[in-house]
Amino acid sequence: MKLNILKYPDSKLREVSEDVTEFNAELKKLSEDMLETMYAENGIGLAAIQVGVAKRMLVIDASPRDTGGRYEEGDQTELEKQIQQPLVVINPVILKGEGSTTFDEGCLSVPSFFETVERKEKIVLQYNNLQGETKTLETDGLLAIVIQHEMDHLNGELFIDRISFVKSNKIKSQIKKNGYPEKTPKGSEKSETEL
Ligand code: CO
Repeated sequence: MKLNILKYPDSKLREVSEDVTEFNAELKKLSEDMLETMYAENGIGLAAIQVGVAKRMLVIDASPRDTGGRYEEGDQTELEKQIQQPLVVINPVILKGEGSTTFDEGCLSVPSFFETVERKEKIVLQYNNLQGETKTLETDGLLAIVIQHEMDHLNGELFIDRISFVKSNKIKSQIKKNGYPEKTPKGSEKSETEL
């Protein structure tokens, strides 16, 4: 079932999500609905709070897909290639982060706006899977960026909080004044990616 994605300035997006303690059928269904919603919106990551559920869970698929000008096959790093996607990531913790990288980030909760954001280049992530097992993964590339972007959502933060005050205010006032522009139709020329 496709879910409704909350958009800035919805105050729910500012909530700090809670740890998942029960790994049950309801959680699995939520992850499936989140993936369906993410793919339908042509996104590459989605946090539960973006569909109104304050649980520390993310779904991610940053693998190459033929949906226009996004990440291509050759762009994947060696570490990314080793990781099976889509990923369902629960209670994530970054154990180690190193280096820095930038990417023109967008967000399904702030659609049509993009700004360059700085992130750690390489991370070691610990998380629970849907069975409640503890896993770790090491990645860099786009996958590492998406993980960090989605983890911000769990703490009530958006990418527009990580850019300059001037740029952030420009986006916020534009949204408050005019709302969101019409979304670019799927499959059209588009080099930007919503996370
Ligand atoms: Co986002």
